[in-house]
Amino acid sequence: MPTNAPDTISLQCIQCHRSYPTTEVRYVCDCGGLLDVWHDLEALRPRINRGLFDGRLSGAPGPKVVPTTNSGVWRYREIILPTTVDNIVSRPEGNTPLYEHPRVSQYAGLSDLYLKHEGENPTGSFKDRGMTVGVTQAKIMGATAVACASTGNTSASLAAYAARAGIPALIFIPAGKIAAGKLAQALAYGAHTLQIQGDFDDAMNLVQEVCNKLGVYLLNSLNPFRLEGQKSIVFEILQGFQWQPPDWIVLPAGNLGNTAAFGKALFEAQQLGLVDRIPRIAAVQAAGASPFYQSYQRSFAERVTVKANTVATAINIGNPVSYPRAIRTLEWANGVVTAVSDDEIMDAKAVVDSAGIGCEPASAASVAGVRQLVSAGVIKPDETVVSILTGHVLKDPTATVDYHTGQWPNAQFANAPVKVEANLAAVQQALEARL
Ligand code: F0G
Repeated sequence: MPTNAPDTISLQCIQCHRSYPTTEVRYVCDCGGLLDVWHDLEALRPRINRGLFDGRLSGAPGPKVVPTTNSGVWRYREIILPTTVDNIVSRPEGNTPLYEHPRVSQYAGLSDLYLKHEGENPTGSFKDRGMTVGVTQAKIMGATAVACASTGNTSASLAAYAARAGIPALIFIPAGKIAAGKLAQALAYGAHTLQIQGDFDDAMNLVQEVCNKLGVYLLNSLNPFRLEGQKSIVFEILQGFQWQPPDWIVLPAGNLGNTAAFGKALFEAQQLGLVDRIPRIAAVQAAGASPFYQSYQRSFAERVTVKANTVATAINIGNPVSYPRAIRTLEWANGVVTAVSDDEIMDAKAVVDSAGIGCEPASAASVAGVRQLVSAGVIKPDETVVSILTGHVLKDPTATVDYHTGQWPNAQFANAPVKVEANLAAVQQALEARL
């Protein structure tokens, strides 16, 4: 039995506002609405301030991982998941860099573009921030097995964190539709891996049924504890800017978990007095997987679903689970939604990669989105923008190699390898042609 549920948190329906204790295993309200982890902000306000979180930055990493010192998620634990340190399952995650590079800024049309590289988390994606919280909650609840459906990164992350916690992991992935690096991670970390004959949306439906019927703990971002961890991306950005927020935060959007988490984080940061104003949010979808963008264009009068098809397999999703929570983010953060083509994604990725930074295709959607929003006049060239890179360049080697070796017909920045005979003259000839 879970014992240590703090009384400052509960689960609350975003639609009818009914509350449930966090000791109950539940992912949706009886009315069908999605749930939030609700924090008692009134009770927290006197205990939380910038100094509390800034004071924790000085903890030098020692030889032993102490999550409350080393993790960029648990630094904000009071407003994420208050719990004792022995419950926490951490690698540790977060503390990701904010990169700048003139070529990327110039490509986007901005003087100040920062890239928050979430691909530099322990398993190579932002999912680790949600997973450390999700698996910690699974441990608190005494879960005997955990499961998720995934386009690859969630499953890689779940597989790793479940292995750390000693809890068996069951993952559902669309057969043939996830990048090689991600499949390799799930297998390597020892998860029971089921390749579904269908797409992510089919896998998502199936995993919910399995969890409900077989009593397995669900760790998709439908589970609100995952989103609590992902809020730390925003807290880190705000803290990195000394609590003087940038003008925009731009992120790729698939299942809309991150979009939902970002809005909640900004809302709470403002309510707690950590910031005086909040940045605007831009969510960027791949044009071939853009149900949220299409709903946005219709002012959310109807919920659009699509059969998704994009090179950015991480966001190849046609029926995003966090749709209502993401609409709320747009309201809170005066947000916009856009969509970019696969050519725009792969060219933006090549620019980020060639700056020595590197990311997977879905991540580059955010940079392609910034470029598009700047040229449309939505983002002004002198505004400060943070673009989220969600996954590591090594996640999807196939897409990268295809782009550079002529399999991507419209590639603008291909850097093809050159075959040469193994002698100096041949090398000299090849170099003269190139330089
Ligand atoms: N970028 C990457 C690299 C992702 O893996 C995902 C989602 C997203 C962006 C979109 O984030 O779903 O919160 O809108 N990947 C999930 C997965 C769906 O299963 O790994 P979102």
